[in-house]
Amino acid sequence: MVFTVKDMSFKAGQELTISGKVKSSCELFSVNIGHNSESIALHFNPRFCYCGDSNVIVCNSNLGGWGEEQREHSFPFQQGDDFKVSINFNNDQFYIKLPNGTMMSFPNRTGDDTFKHIDVQGDVKVQGIKIK
Ligand code: GAL
Repeated sequence: MVFTVKDMSFKAGQELTISGKVKSSCELFSVNIGHNSESIALHFNPRFCYCGDSNVIVCNSNLGGWGEEQREHSFPFQQGDDFKVSINFNNDQFYIKLPNGTMMSFPNRTGDDTFKHIDVQGDVKVQGIKIK
């Protein structure tokens, strides 16, 4: 675990921005949003090189088990580079703005409008997290 945000609320309509630096040896990292580490509504997982995957973003939920993955092959991340990702959501979808400005979405499978758990895992250094 690189970073866990505690005691805060991420609400529908707000924007979460995470900035950091990808380690030069990074195989993967993830941003996880949910209620706790066992209930993750959005697992956003850029994979540089992991389990046969290269340069793909895997998104999923883990609500008592992994759900159906969604994969995005637009991959605007580079090992050793800074990155910034912004996420907002409503009770239907998460919208994720990638470092090159393109958007991807992932269904909000719990339909909730507040999440209190955010963590970042993997081979990155988190430099900033803000919600506004
Ligand atoms: C698994 C991996 C998990 C998670 C999941 C997403 O293969 O072990 O960490 O990324 O895929 O579907």
